[in-house]
Amino acid sequence: MRRLLFFCLLTSLLTCAFLMSPEPSGAQQKISLRLATEHPNTTPSAKSFMYFAEELARASGGRIEVLLFFGGQLGTHAQLMEQAKIGSLDMAHASPVHVSAWLPEYSVLGMPFLFRDRPHAFAVMDGEVGKNLFLLLEKVGFKGLYWHDAGSRNTYTKSRPITAPADFKGLKIRVQNDPIQIEAFKALGASPTATAFSEVYSALQTGVIDGAENNATSVKNMGHFEVSKFFSLTEHMRIPDIFVMSLSAFNRLPADLQKAVMDTAEKAKQFQRKAWLEAEKADMGFIESKGMKINPVSDKRAFVEAVKPVYDKYGAKFGDLIERIRNTR
Ligand code: GCU
Repeated sequence: MRRLLFFCLLTSLLTCAFLMSPEPSGAQQKISLRLATEHPNTTPSAKSFMYFAEELARASGGRIEVLLFFGGQLGTHAQLMEQAKIGSLDMAHASPVHVSAWLPEYSVLGMPFLFRDRPHAFAVMDGEVGKNLFLLLEKVGFKGLYWHDAGSRNTYTKSRPITAPADFKGLKIRVQNDPIQIEAFKALGASPTATAFSEVYSALQTGVIDGAENNATSVKNMGHFEVSKFFSLTEHMRIPDIFVMSLSAFNRLPADLQKAVMDTAEKAKQFQRKAWLEAEKADMGFIESKGMKINPVSDKRAFVEAVKPVYDKYGAKFGDLIERIRNTR
């Protein structure tokens, strides 16, 4: 009798414990993935990561949780890519220049005036060129998740607007650390200075640089509007960011979770693009309302002419890829 009572008590305790458990039965196997970017949590890309994390938790039935690290908490974009490459970080976001040391083809995306417009850039990224570039990533330790819209890049300066290439003369302009982008700004007549994204604010503030170049959304979200005055619409480059997973982390996932990651990435890509479009217009208005002077550039041809030496220099090395990009409709 005693034994029976003990057995009944034990069974009901176990049932109770099971019912009260907040996690599914596979809770011990929950996989935590760390995702990091240098962007603060206010950008369209950052918002797409929040969406990605939520959607992936749902699509994986709670088996995956994505831990988000914004604002360079885990390092600069270059450092994040290094970490993801060796597998000490699971997911990283950056400009493609940060893989160009391993895959020089990625530099090509920074060729000046390469993309005709946004639809052209999307057609390239979503088409054969973008897919092949993502496949290349797998050779060096990454799984490509999705391309981000990062708009077109413009020039912002402290002392004078840029209306013609001659205005660049003598100005130290921050660029990303990539040979093509450095070359392009030399060709325009500036003194290019490679600086990490998160260091641009203080470089502008202290006068280490006289200007920088980026989209209005970065100027807003990184606070650069506080330390520069003129935003000139040079629209010289359109460089989509990449979001990658460490290949070792991806390969460790069972096939169904790999699929959940890729399906969710596709949804988050759409989310990011929509969020980008909404932000882009608003952010231009925002920086203007904070006192920046928006300076239209009427003669784009002068800039296109000025960067021709960059095409002469890199044409032989990357001509085929440039051609395929140009021919994408
Ligand atoms: C863009 C991009 C960033 C990038 C930055 C930069 O704004 O979205 O991810 O790092 O440019 O110039 O470094």
